[in-house]
Amino acid sequence: MNEVHFNPNKITILGIESSCDDTSAAVIRDGYLLSNVTASQAVHEAYGGVVPELASRAHQLNIVPVVDQALKRAGVTKEELSAIAFTRGPGLMGSLLVGVSFAKGLAASLGIPMIDVNHLQGHVLAHFIREKPLSDSPRGEEESIPPFPFLCLLVSGGNSQIVLVKAYNDMEIVGQTIDDAAGEAIDKCSKVMGLGYPGGPIIDRLARQGNPEAFTFAKPAIPGYDYSFSGLKTSFLYNLRDWLKDDPDFVEHHKEDLAASLEKTIVDILMNKLRRAAKDLKIKHVAVAGGVSANTGLREAFKDHARRYGWTIYIPKFSYTTDNAAMIAITGLFKYGDKDFCPMEAPAYSRVAL
Ligand code: KG4
Repeated sequence: MNEVHFNPNKITILGIESSCDDTSAAVIRDGYLLSNVTASQAVHEAYGGVVPELASRAHQLNIVPVVDQALKRAGVTKEELSAIAFTRGPGLMGSLLVGVSFAKGLAASLGIPMIDVNHLQGHVLAHFIREKPLSDSPRGEEESIPPFPFLCLLVSGGNSQIVLVKAYNDMEIVGQTIDDAAGEAIDKCSKVMGLGYPGGPIIDRLARQGNPEAFTFAKPAIPGYDYSFSGLKTSFLYNLRDWLKDDPDFVEHHKEDLAASLEKTIVDILMNKLRRAAKDLKIKHVAVAGGVSANTGLREAFKDHARRYGWTIYIPKFSYTTDNAAMIAITGLFKYGDKDFCPMEAPAYSRVAL
């Protein structure tokens, strides 16, 4: 079954996401997304990475106005909600606690069920978010929903996994990073170049003007479908250190080429394993999800694979690649159909598998 496996009419789900540094709330009604409001936290930029304590404090400030705006934009009152879906983990504990506690308080006060959502499952199911079809293109969005089973490359700041998605609630990790995530490697390389945080969008922008063949960095030799990015990170760091000895302005002189070469190396590593997994598992429906799926080079590589290997590819809209509550609400809608609710005492989990 490709879509929500029950009649979603008249069901209204509020989704809440607070696992890292984005406070987000979304409303889905009758199977369609009505609002998706996200407050990002600029406070971390000065530190070159997310500071957990500051993230929790910012969530505390943001959660009430963000939920309020999501309801208003959707034109829905809280009394009309059928259930509240929230990210239970994985993520930063202090950040999660804000969303989890808020969801519990609101659900208890309204007397409606709570639905706990695995953040990673949410990223994968972002492909099932449906917006109201435009009257002049009613079919377009339907075509972007993948059929089960499909393969999903889940690449974010905390994860790099190849997931075999057999059903909305049946996902198998066929390969995953044994050390750093792809996004983490990009962010760290950006940091050593002094380019700012988060590095992903900066590297992406610079890479468009650079030569991807200018520099070569180490690629890992890891068996099976697993990934490793720590060797690449070290190779980038050591090379850069040597080049800086000869030219203290090396980064300034070569930042576009460095970005393009780094991006190409990471995209090649990701696609090589994904291609092997798709071939061995005989799957031609291939999706990408998570923050790094915003990357232009990775999106191009997906399109290239679709042409060369006959894949049907699924690339989410930019707004559903990074952390957002729409993906939590759609996962909540799937679970609502199975009456898969969670008890009030359910704790947040900082680490949890798919
Ligand atoms: O999924 P996400 O928002 O957060 C979690 O890790 O859960 O992913 C964030 C990651 C960061 O590492 C960020 O640098 C990366 O996604 N990212 C990108 C791009 N936009 C965000 N990486 C490459 N190119 C981009 N355009």
